[in-house]
Amino acid sequence: MATRITRLLGIQHPIVQAGMSWASSSAALPAAVSNAGALGVLAAGPLRLQDFGRTLDELAGATDKPYAVNIPLYRPQAAQLLDAMVDRKVPVVIASQGGPRAHLQRFRDYGAVWIQVVSTLEHAKKAADAGVDALVVVGGEAGGHPPANEVSTLVTVRRVLQEVQIPVIAGGGVADGWGIAALLALGADAVQLGTRFLLTEEATVHANYKAAVLAADVHDTVLVGRRSLPVRGIRNAFAQAIFDAERDQLAQEDYDLLFKKSTLKQAALDGDVEWGKVELGQSAGLVSRIAPAAMVVAQLVRELAQASARLHTMTAPHS
Ligand SMILES: Cc1cc2nc3c(=O)[nH]c(=O)nc-3n(C[C@H](O)[C@H](O)[C@H](O)COP(=O)(O)O)c2cc1C
Repeated sequence: MATRITRLLGIQHPIVQAGMSWASSSAALPAAVSNAGALGVLAAGPLRLQDFGRTLDELAGATDKPYAVNIPLYRPQAAQLLDAMVDRKVPVVIASQGGPRAHLQRFRDYGAVWIQVVSTLEHAKKAADAGVDALVVVGGEAGGHPPANEVSTLVTVRRVLQEVQIPVIAGGGVADGWGIAALLALGADAVQLGTRFLLTEEATVHANYKAAVLAADVHDTVLVGRRSLPVRGIRNAFAQAIFDAERDQLAQEDYDLLFKKSTLKQAALDGDVEWGKVELGQSAGLVSRIAPAAMVVAQLVRELAQASARLHTMTAPHS
């Protein structure tokens, strides 16, 4: 299947493994996904500068296919991480949480592709105006940081496509080839999946984390932290403490302390799935097993072909 994104990135399938802090912060998952013909994404978020350089070298040594690095631009160390990416000529940058304008030129100079993550029409337009090559557009079902207004993927992506001309990678709530077909039919050029790739052998999160994602159904996630930077996570003791704080109208300072005390690292590294932030999307309820990433990509491609064939038979003239 050829789309504007497969051509722009030089990948075989219109499928992107979403950058996920901790889960895709070592080379294993992105290398396996890229080697399977989709786009693997290393999440730089939690990495210290010295570990980042080493991990980038590992990833470049583990695949000769295109891969990307997801970088949250608000991080204090972002400037040094970007320098390391330029030094190593990382082929694809997927930037989130910060404006791209100041950084684009030096990535352009060596031929990199710059993709910006957005979750609202306003940010999509701003990024397109700044001159990015493509967008990742994420809707309300997504794990991590969906739009605070929770407008769904189906609606957010379609709205962005009405206004923006550059290629769009859509995501949030997709865990199988049927979901991919749906968003391609909507007008997206590729689809990004996060939660689906959490349940792979290569994802580097604690076994407790994977077990919690595996056990979750589609209604077991909640948007937590509406008075801060909301995350979609599992309904656990931490989420309940935040809801109680909102009900009791806790002072903002104390609310912020409570919200920040719990971290993704606590869940992903230490396995504390009760008091840590267990980020996952609604699509967790669509996945029922942990598999090697290459098998996941192969299955997604098969399902996408089945879904496309189904649409085709619906439109074929009846004999
Ligand atoms: C555990 C986890 C960690 C995430 N970390 C990041 C991150 O570091 N940077 C980022 O841009 N998005 C991050 N996200 C969001 C994903 O990139 C992606 O947008 C989202 O998972 C897509 O929705 P889905 O989970 O329904 O597939 C994270 C998501 C999860 C589940």
